[in-house]
Amino acid sequence: MDIAFSDRFLNMLKTARSVVVSTGAGVSAESGVPTFRGADGLWKKFRPEELATFEAFQANPQIVWEWYQYRREIIHKIKPNPGHYAIVRMPEYFESFDLITQNVDGLHRAAGSLDVIELHGNIMRNKCVACGGLSDDLEFAQFPPICKCGGRLRPDVVWFGEMLPADALERAEKASASCDIFFSVGTSGVVQPAAGLAYMARRGGAFVVEINLEPTELTYISDEHFGGKSGEILPAILEKIKSVRSRSLTKS
Ligand code: OAD
Ligand code: ZN
Repeated sequence: MDIAFSDRFLNMLKTARSVVVSTGAGVSAESGVPTFRGADGLWKKFRPEELATFEAFQANPQIVWEWYQYRREIIHKIKPNPGHYAIVRMPEYFESFDLITQNVDGLHRAAGSLDVIELHGNIMRNKCVACGGLSDDLEFAQFPPICKCGGRLRPDVVWFGEMLPADALERAEKASASCDIFFSVGTSGVVQPAAGLAYMARRGGAFVVEINLEPTELTYISDEHFGGKSGEILPAILEKIKSVRSRSLTKS
């Protein structure tokens, strides 16, 4: 894809030591995972407070589980797209690289990214509300499913009103506050604390690059906005990185 690169951005790509890529639902849209907001977004058809809170789960685990099993089925069938694959190659070119995602679909890892900071958990994992035990069964003898300890199982995702995993958030904040380039990819930038990472990067002096089909809450703090599909723009950026940098000697 032919996209225009500003001199400032090119210069940053040449000289940056540390890079953070932070992704949202948009990076998986071209794989066929529905986003939450926007024209075909899940929150147009479903009410988040009825499906994505612990209170809703306690009141009606059956309905909440059915919704998650429906989304698991979609995710089970789909594959990473060129955007995910471009991100897999980026760490080779920088001394420091962190990938942060709000997505629960596991597609970054399926593509081959190592060490993904998952802020909102993983939809393919189950967690017991009583003993905290994790498991990865997708089919259950009993539904809604129960843990060996007798406690109720839930999907290991972060619901509205819940805390993010502390270690993941801490790593994400540290990386964002100290990076040279921060990419915000396919996120509407309205859900906190994830959205705050871009502001942190900005305050830390990073060059902020946004890739999104449309302008968002984060556009006005971005140094560069690429309007288009992440599955096309990320591979173009990777090609540019390859042409202006050699592979980092610190990586094998
Ligand atoms: P949203 O659905 O809010 O936003 C998706 C963004 O991706 C929108 O800004 C779209 O314009 C953009 N987009 C769509 N297709 C794209 C493409 N092919 N290339 C580039 N951009 C594209 O998703 P998130 O910002 O990830 O939280 O949502 C954040 C959180 O809200 C989710 O993690 C989830 C949700 O409620 C929880 O469940 C806790
Ligand atoms: Zn248990």
